[in-house]
Amino acid sequence: MAQKPSLASRIINAGSPKPENGQAFKPGPQFASTFHLQGDVEANTYQYGRFGQPTWDSLEKAFAKLEGGETVIFPSGMSAAAAILTSLVSPGDTILLPADGYAPVRYYAQQYLVKFGIHLKTVETAKIDEYDFSGIDLALLETPSNPMLDTFNVHLAATKLHQHGGLLAIDNTTLTFLGQAPLLLGADITMSADTKAVNGQSDVLFGHVTCKEYAISEKIREWRKYSGNIPGPMETWLVHRSLSTLDVRLERMCNNALALATLLAEHEKVLSVRYPGLKNDPSYSNAKIQQQYFGFIVSFELANQHAADSFLRACKLVYEATSFGGVHSTAERRARWGTDDIADGVIRFSVGCERAEDLLNDVMSALEQI
Ligand SMILES: Cc1ncc(COP(=O)(O)O)c(C=O)c1O
Repeated sequence: MAQKPSLASRIINAGSPKPENGQAFKPGPQFASTFHLQGDVEANTYQYGRFGQPTWDSLEKAFAKLEGGETVIFPSGMSAAAAILTSLVSPGDTILLPADGYAPVRYYAQQYLVKFGIHLKTVETAKIDEYDFSGIDLALLETPSNPMLDTFNVHLAATKLHQHGGLLAIDNTTLTFLGQAPLLLGADITMSADTKAVNGQSDVLFGHVTCKEYAISEKIREWRKYSGNIPGPMETWLVHRSLSTLDVRLERMCNNALALATLLAEHEKVLSVRYPGLKNDPSYSNAKIQQQYFGFIVSFELANQHAADSFLRACKLVYEATSFGGVHSTAERRARWGTDDIADGVIRFSVGCERAEDLLNDVMSALEQI
């Protein structure tokens, strides 16, 4: 019997219509706010653009099949995170967030949820494997964390949280569903800022949430409908278009990242390097168990702010920018935002699809100049 193709091969056509003569491989975006709607509204698939539309359906079908759940798409990663945090809790519930994860998610909870009686707790990612989850109703955690790339064991966290009746959601942005499958590891919900590697072209903001259970995804879908946090058809189509090449891009980016991290780890001007694919990295053991890729982000520390800024100025191939996951390498001195508890000389480096030798030459030459 023919073997089922791998996830990496299935993404190429995921969510596309069945082959039919004369039909487009990937139909273009459908721009519509209004659909013809006669009689019984429930009998019609499409009613009004904020409730649902065909371009969304194609991409949601693709993510749902690939991740094994029910998907709801959003106009950004933050709206995906807000949907999880807002639609699944009630006053008196306790949310757990990473103390060292993407800072705006913590800010959102602190600023907009706490005042409605939601309790907020935080935990450092590196301490989650030992964490006691009692009293937690919903945890939205990141592994590897952004920007310092600590990890925790998703299966262990899900098992412990479920013993207390809580839900586990994983922000899978730093790896994507090809690099890690949170729902298969035991999580209830997975989300991603597809702005990053899933789209990968640095031209679209996007996000999605995939839930194991239909009842949970329906709460999230309803929040989208009534909050109006809806993606545009053009952005949806662009992300769907980019999805096909995700595996090719990830393979190059992650191979480049390992080569870069290995070189940096031996460099005299680099104080320390974090990359889950280095055998002596504290994240290596968890990464080895649950990740398909070690990732494309490398964080490393230079002597101080001046050294880090000089390095960034001296790079020619690498753009100084926030964000990560694009086909081009980008880097930034993360402490410049003042939102993370991080040393002044730390660079978060998002490794792109350049030829490895070009990229490594550029970085080595920039290090020589500081
Ligand atoms: C881990 C993580 N989650 C969520 C987000 C938010 O995504 P967006 O910028 O698309 O709203 C980001 C953005 O950097 C992120 O890094």
